[in-house]
Amino acid sequence: MSNFFALIPAAGSGARMGNALPKQYLSLNNRPMIYHAINTLCQNQFIAGVFVVLAPSDSEWFKYDWSEFSEKLIVLSCGGLTRADSVLNSLTAAKQKKLVDTDDWILVHDAARPCLTSIQLDKLINELSADDVGGLLAVPVADTLKRSNIENRVTHTESRENLWQAQTPQMFRYDLLTQALRSATSINVTDDASAVEALGFHPKLVPGDAYNFKVTYPQDLALAELILQKRNNS
Ligand code: C5P
Repeated sequence: MSNFFALIPAAGSGARMGNALPKQYLSLNNRPMIYHAINTLCQNQFIAGVFVVLAPSDSEWFKYDWSEFSEKLIVLSCGGLTRADSVLNSLTAAKQKKLVDTDDWILVHDAARPCLTSIQLDKLINELSADDVGGLLAVPVADTLKRSNIENRVTHTESRENLWQAQTPQMFRYDLLTQALRSATSINVTDDASAVEALGFHPKLVPGDAYNFKVTYPQDLALAELILQKRNNS
């Protein structure tokens, strides 16, 4: 039987937030932002373990008390230069430590998506656990999309038909994901699905919701705070 593991790459610096502290540690509802994703993933009934991938130089992580998650939370200090490197390094480390098997499912989730709900997570797992390829949470594009030239002048309007915004978790079997990331080192891979696509596979898009956005700019942090506070109060 295959197990399900979550993997949170958290070895980035989050330069676009304009803060010296890596964004996964910015305070959100009196916790470091990454706490919220860890909490949702650790509480999930299907998930056997949650790997967090840190930069080898990260000392911030150890300033917090993570003991409430006990041994379900596993820290791997092997982040790389890119997100793809961080994911691949940690998959290799987890296999070397005999923590995962090649046919286990890996759900890669960004530390910077703190508003993931257990409903969305269950939906992803239920829709994909019998799938041959795997897939990801995503939302259909709602806005009209403009293509520009370098002077920010519109050159044309893109059709939004069949266009989706990729989110995380992105769920693939260990074997396929490692194979995809290994062969993807030379191309521009900003998520796990694009590495799998480059091998010729067609990951399934599981409709999610817009609340599971990625905190990238300072205003996103304020929005995430409002969403989490509202959930706590209802
Ligand atoms: O920079 P971006 O928002 O795309 O990063 C997405 C996720 O990948 C973040 O959780 C970040 O910490 C992680 N990351 C990583 N290793 C890197 C770069 C980014 O684990 N070298």
